[in-house]
Amino acid sequence: MLPELERVPRMELAITPTPLQETPRLAAALGLDRLLVKRDDNTGLALGGNKARKLEYLVAAATRAGADILLTVGAPQSNHCRCTAAAARAAGMDAHFVFNGPPVEEVQGNLLLDRLLGATWSFSPDRPASERVAELAEELRAAGRRPYVIPGGGSNGLGALGYVRCALELAEQLAGHGGRPRYLVCAGGSCGTLSGLTLGLALAGSDAQVAGVSISNSVPDRDARTREIMAEACEHLDMALPDAAPVIWGGYVGSGYGMPTELSTRALETAARTEGLILDPVYTAKALGGLIGEIEAGRVKRDDFVVFLHTGGTPALFADPALYWHPD
Ligand SMILES: Cc1ncc(COP(=O)(O)O)c(C=O)c1O
Repeated sequence: MLPELERVPRMELAITPTPLQETPRLAAALGLDRLLVKRDDNTGLALGGNKARKLEYLVAAATRAGADILLTVGAPQSNHCRCTAAAARAAGMDAHFVFNGPPVEEVQGNLLLDRLLGATWSFSPDRPASERVAELAEELRAAGRRPYVIPGGGSNGLGALGYVRCALELAEQLAGHGGRPRYLVCAGGSCGTLSGLTLGLALAGSDAQVAGVSISNSVPDRDARTREIMAEACEHLDMALPDAAPVIWGGYVGSGYGMPTELSTRALETAARTEGLILDPVYTAKALGGLIGEIEAGRVKRDDFVVFLHTGGTPALFADPALYWHPD
């Protein structure tokens, strides 16, 4: 591992290294010679996913700041909030979430786990949850609590260090697997994962291209946002920003965040029926759907060796199955 990264305080929350698996049947179904899946759905913290790695750095910072409650924002089915609830417990803290949008009644999927973990939440129907959470932090401070605010998706320079670490771990695993990947494909949401991977692969000297499949239109410019987060991460590492950037595959959102597309449904079913691999409907099915789209458009070629990062999120499958999946 990188000495600059080892110097940044981290609380162990994720079970790593996560497996890197050959998926020959899925590769064949997609029209690829070789596809590996990096199983970050198996990071372990409250059913796993990519947020565990980011929270290792964010919760270490909260602990050092003397926090007793973590505050963050998201959608009611946020995987980030569910993992924050679990990380708070592991660090001896409480967690409260402000969800964007009107109140939802049904407590299912991730929300059910939030409740089980003893987190509390409120809604921000009229303005961005990030505005309300800043106010709430002030109110809590005035009441004698010590809140620590984590940004949506855990995506800032500190959280992205979790994915710098993942990229270094992956580079080591690839040395044992043989072959140099052409693409490392993942979902692009709030961009912390993409930023950390891009920075980490550059630091590992890999020439694999990180490709982020946009899962919503809520980040207007993912290139710019990635650059910002990478720059902030480099400040934590006290190093210069390398000249590296992900490619963004932006045409696969469909009618909106969390809404299925023909490709995402096909991806969900194909992964399950070729390898027994369960994706989530909101992020990883859209990401694999994007890869299918790029292959079908001829931009990713049969002999391009691809690594797909499974970032987790499977609890959302149980939240509203009728919305996400229409079996024939
Ligand atoms: C399952 C899953 N995959 C991918 C992402 C996207 O990661 P990022 O927000 O770092 O872009 C998220 C973010 O919430 C997620 O929950």
